[in-house]
Amino acid sequence: MNRISVNVDGTTYEDEVEPRLLLVHYLRDRLGLTGTQNGCDTGNCGACTVDLDGASVKSCSVLAVQADGGEVTTLQGLARDGEWHPLQRSFHERHALQCGYCTPGMIMAARDLLRDNPDPSPQEVRNSLRGNLCRCTGYQNIVEAVLAAAAARESVPAPAAGGERT
Ligand code: FES
Ligand code: FES
Repeated sequence: MNRISVNVDGTTYEDEVEPRLLLVHYLRDRLGLTGTQNGCDTGNCGACTVDLDGASVKSCSVLAVQADGGEVTTLQGLARDGEWHPLQRSFHERHALQCGYCTPGMIMAARDLLRDNPDPSPQEVRNSLRGNLCRCTGYQNIVEAVLAAAAARESVPAPAAGGERT
């Protein structure tokens, strides 16, 4: 067993974990954060995408011990003061989900894109989400939702250094 300390969605957890435990299983089974989905367990579908120390990762491809000392943000950590993140709101308003299984990963991957590229083209959105599979929507509404969230972010002032536009 290995001892880890990891901050998840603003809360620090100290735990003993098996060295082989995947981060997605740690989040879901140990911490009960089931907003992060486990779709394929093989790095193919993107449903398990979370942010680890400022970059989106597929949490089924990362060991929990690799997150030791790190900061993880899941979909469940995005809302602030009871207000959805702009991407959550935009997915809701643009009907960018059907069964919703892919949605947490889609939103986390899109968040990563908008951090690097606040004003992406439709093709750039499609390229950035190519590691995230959706069996339901046909992708069009997902792309529109990401573009709408980007437009909404552009219309509000930038936050102080270190903050995130919400
Ligand atoms: S569950 Fe991680 S990529 Fe599918
Ligand atoms: S909404 Fe069902 S898999 Fe994307």
